[in-house]
Parts: sequence; C-alpha cells; structure tokens
Amino acid sequence: MKLRIRVPATSANLGPGFDCIGIALDWWNTIEVETLARGLEIICPDNLPRDKSNAVIQGMIAGFKLAGRKLPPVRVKMNAEVPIASGLGSSSAALVSGILAANALMGDQFTRAQLLALATHVEGHPDNVTPALLGGLVVAVQEGKLVHAVRIEVPRDLRTVIFIPAYQVLTKRARGILPREIPRADSIYNSGRTALWIAALYERRWDWLDLATRDKLHQPYRAKLVRGMNELCDAARKASARGVALSGAGPSIIAFTDHADDDIARAMERAARKVGVEGKAHLVNVSARGARVTRLK
Ligand code: HSE
Repeated sequence: MKLRIRVPATSANLGPGFDCIGIALDWWNTIEVETLARGLEIICPDNLPRDKSNAVIQGMIAGFKLAGRKLPPVRVKMNAEVPIASGLGSSSAALVSGILAANALMGDQFTRAQLLALATHVEGHPDNVTPALLGGLVVAVQEGKLVHAVRIEVPRDLRTVIFIPAYQVLTKRARGILPREIPRADSIYNSGRTALWIAALYERRWDWLDLATRDKLHQPYRAKLVRGMNELCDAARKASARGVALSGAGPSIIAFTDHADDDIARAMERAARKVGVEGKAHLVNVSARGARVTRLK
C-alpha cells in the first residue's frame, strides 16, 4: 500500500486561548508512506531525525500501539515545508501525519474521537493537533481522556500575516518558563478575551480582535525568549492589523487582517530589523481543510 498525507501548519493560542484554540493555515507538510517487506526507511530533510525519534514515526508507533500492534516495515518520505520550532505546529503536523498513516494502513479503524484523543494525548495539548486534523478554527477542551473539539468556519476575509524569525524556540523551553500559578485577575482577563474571540468570529466583528488577541497568561513570560515580540506586535497594530499574537509558543508572530495589501508584513519586517531580528513576513490564508489522506496504490 502507498499513501500520501497532507497536514496543514497551525497557529495555537491566538493570544489568550492558551492550550485550547488554534487555526489551520494554508501551508502544508506532505508525507508518503509505502509498506515494505522489511526494515524502516526514512527519507527526510537533514534537519529532521532519521530514526524512530522522528515525530512522524512516533505518530505511527502510537497509532499501531493503540491497536495493540507494532510498526510494520515502511518507507516514509517527508518534505517538511513548514519551518520547525517556529510556533507553526510543525511537530504536531508530523505527529498527525504519522497517526493518520497508521490508521490508513490498518484499514481506517479509528473513529474521529479516537484520532483526536490519541493526537492530543501524544502531543500533550489539543490546540495544534485538532485544527491540523479538522481545519478551520478549533476550540478544543480535554475532559478526562476525551477531547471535545468544535470546528468553527473562519470567514474568508480574515487572513493572517506571520512574521517568522530566523531563529528557533523549542516549545518545551517556552512552556518551562511559564509560572505554575497565575493571579485570578489574569485568568479572568484571558477567559473573557478567549470568549470575545469566538464572539468576534460569529459576529464578524474584526474590530473586536484587538482586545480579543491580548493575553496575560503566557506572552508576557515568553517575551524574554522572543526578541522584539512587543515591538513587532505594536508595529503590526499600527499598520492596521485587527489583532496580533505570539503564534503558539513562538517565536513567530501572527497578525490578523481583512486587507489584501502587504503593509503589515513590511511594518513587521521593519520593526524586526530595528531590534536586530532576522526573518520574513508571509501572508497566509486560514485553511478550511484539515489533514487529507490519499491512497496512491
Ligand atoms: N499552547 C501551546 C503553548 C502551543 O503555547 O505552549 C505550543 O505549540
């Protein structure tokens, strides 16, 4: 059997929705998986591991394990278009593609709920893997072992501008610097703004996003890992971004706009140059689609 699996990049948190909201982006990683008579062959770019620690293989192993089986002999070819350790869900995309490969090789035996729960369990939080699977904007909460994921259509006029710095930040480090407890006032600040985000989507009130993308739970702490975070956010807002946030655990910055011009991208690049950060801004649409599996033979 031969499969092709495409999984979108994702941006998690969107400001205040720490570990519970994320969007799928129109930027894709592709893998091809083919069953072999024996062995494990991994064909991938040099910056990814060529052994079982590779996130795609980890996803496959987890999928087979859930069915009480072992990884069969396979050749896996991956392209990894989405920049790694940049806050764009590249490791979640790899993990999801591995889980979907295992599921397809076993005759699609998992339900949607099982796929969501397995991906969340392996990743540790649902806000990248659920939009990677479902597309659109996803609100996802865990209750015990279950993951409740609600997919919301994002109107096509809302686009993103993403500044991707040339350096990387590992999610583990960016989670490690967060305090274990936060003041009640900060928690209220964030839950109100997360709710406002969803209300803004349903009402198409992009003027609410400036408030709705603000956060006190993780961004202020992560600013020390993300050089120029505040300057880039301010520059995007001044250039008429509707809202702006750290993308996932960073270091990319995601701005939201309902215009097609590149003023926000240029403003973010100028602000980055001023603080000595190399990188590039990209205009990226939200993807209504999530991961897709195609059987090649
Ligand atoms: N919600 C996660 C975090 C996303 O901010 O740590 C990481 O990709």
